[in-house]
Amino acid sequence: MKQKEYKRYLVTSALPYANGPIHIGHLAGVYVPADIYVRYLRLTGREVCFIGGSDEHGVPITIKARQLGVTPREIVDQYHTQIKESFSKLGISFDIYSRTTSEIHHKTASAFFKKLYDEGKFIEKETEQFFDPGTGTFLADRYIVGTCPRCNHNHAYGDQCEKCGSTLSAEELIDPRSSLSGVVPEKKKTKHWYLPLNEYEPWLKEWILETHKEWKPNVYGQCKSWLDNGLKPRAVSRDLDWGVPVPIEGAEGKVLYVWFDAPIGYISNTIELFPDTWEKWWKDKDTKMVHFIGKDNIVFHCIVFPSMLKAHGEFIVPDNVPANEFLNLEGDKISTSNNWAVWLHEYLERFPNKQDVLRYTLCATMPETKDNDFTWKDFQARNNNELVAILGNFVNRAVVLTHKYCDGVVPTCNALTEYDKEILSQIPKTIESLESHLEHYHFREALKDAMSLARLGNKYLADTEPWKVAKTDMERVQTILNIALQICARLTIALDPFLPFTTEKLRGILNMPAALPWSRFRDEVLLAPGFTLNDPVLLFEKIEDTTVQAEVDRLTKGSAATETTAAAVTEIIAAFPECTFEEFSKMDIRVATVLAAERVPKTDKLLKITIDTGLDTRVIVSGIAEHYSPEDLIGRQVCMLANLAPRKIRGIESKGMILMAQEPDGSMSIVSPEKEMKNGSVVN
Ligand code: 2FM
Ligand code: ZN
Repeated sequence: MKQKEYKRYLVTSALPYANGPIHIGHLAGVYVPADIYVRYLRLTGREVCFIGGSDEHGVPITIKARQLGVTPREIVDQYHTQIKESFSKLGISFDIYSRTTSEIHHKTASAFFKKLYDEGKFIEKETEQFFDPGTGTFLADRYIVGTCPRCNHNHAYGDQCEKCGSTLSAEELIDPRSSLSGVVPEKKKTKHWYLPLNEYEPWLKEWILETHKEWKPNVYGQCKSWLDNGLKPRAVSRDLDWGVPVPIEGAEGKVLYVWFDAPIGYISNTIELFPDTWEKWWKDKDTKMVHFIGKDNIVFHCIVFPSMLKAHGEFIVPDNVPANEFLNLEGDKISTSNNWAVWLHEYLERFPNKQDVLRYTLCATMPETKDNDFTWKDFQARNNNELVAILGNFVNRAVVLTHKYCDGVVPTCNALTEYDKEILSQIPKTIESLESHLEHYHFREALKDAMSLARLGNKYLADTEPWKVAKTDMERVQTILNIALQICARLTIALDPFLPFTTEKLRGILNMPAALPWSRFRDEVLLAPGFTLNDPVLLFEKIEDTTVQAEVDRLTKGSAATETTAAAVTEIIAAFPECTFEEFSKMDIRVATVLAAERVPKTDKLLKITIDTGLDTRVIVSGIAEHYSPEDLIGRQVCMLANLAPRKIRGIESKGMILMAQEPDGSMSIVSPEKEMKNGSVVN
């Protein structure tokens, strides 16, 4: 069937929660494929808008803020800036990267809700919901934990089990507990608004199951299973004080559910980018909308958000949702809380000029059809055996030989041999395959196609051996180098969506002033004879064993990305996995004496504590100001974790953690030795 021709492409990528840094799992699942796709579309001259941004509402953010004793606003400000910067350094080419706390977003999401409310599209229901009497809060989503009814995992959340991936409701949890205080919650009446997804079921069945059979099997299959099981009304509001307030009277203390407001963020960000012309992107059937997401977001992008758009009535729905599965790391699931991750901002600090090596490895191992594994050994091998040995080597040979035999000037193409013709005939086939794979979101195959041009070039030089021919037949050398250089020039187009930093470097070597459009791909001559090249520089350098071994070692040593605080401890009680003696013995716990303590200005919970560890005098920032005043602490002996990676809290470098015992109701006590001990005494 011929594909519909679209006038423009609206490409969205999941808005990451601004409560932690970006890791390679996010990149391989969502942002690298989305960026490859939009870069390709732009090269083909199509009108494209690439939307990104931070998802800044929701319970995970308020939980993180509580854990750190700061406001949600401080959390999202910090991570929004960090995430935006690290994406930009990796070359993720958003047209806009905004945030759901923006004024435009609050206005857009409120208006969306209000329209549906006014048109009677919601069901208003009073139900009994879990409530923590100690803290006086309704326990939405992650504020409640319990045992997963599907897989028995004992730390599933009220909205999802992270072990088996099931979407849950708080009612389904076995032995529910408040994650704020650990207590068994009460039930209390509260009113909310529900979107009756069941009413959209017939339309969804027709739209997805009948007209989008081309969706990836993992996406189609998940949708089918949801639709086969029957949809139920879903609450679109929550009792929380962080989010977009429900814009109707009598809804004080209630906000829109984060999964209601976040996807509207795609619309708000388009409005922010194109205040006058945004409607053509959202209301014209000739716009093709594609959502790039991870598999945990499928139901929201294929079922919930489309139902919201349908209920609204003015907007288009996505043409495709090419969701990926998950990327593992060194054989284990990526875990933010266990710091089992490669964090983008840290990678960029340690490998500031290797953006494309990461982009390449993540594209080559993209979990397109099933979960896949990232290993540092594979990263090294892809760099050394593919980028250095194939791509870098080919380009370098072609350019160095041109300098050697032709003074750096593109030589003429003389008579072609049968072998030349055979080599040249591979090019259009490769281009066709590359285009088809990119159009159909098969990015791993597409990358193989692009790299096959470099392989072809390498093979051509190896087979024709211009360095030997140069002794007898300079005309032949000219032809060989001309062909090799035309392949190099084609690589600037073929690799541009994948490796934008490298193609820029390559264009510099080839003295090409600007990126060539995709339409030039099929031209025979991209570099005219007589054109002068620049000096060669190496595109890639080898990565040594010691470098990747250091990365593997870091994984087990932990880094500043994890924060375990007193409040988080209650939440984790039931979920501690078994710990080996080796793991325990990595912790350097020692006795220390508090020398000085003072409140951290403008916080309720934080104390800046100076201690004598017996080894040194150092500062620890601790979230215990609600339990201890500075005077209570001075002169006391405490136990502290001395080798916790230092981290900055409110601009103060905190080196270590003071150990506290905490009861389910939140009350706390310092852990001290029973009798006075020498500072620095080891606790084990
Ligand atoms: O899973 C997540 O990280 C969500 N913050 C994704 C939201 S996508 C969209 F709806 F904004
Ligand atoms: Zn589960």
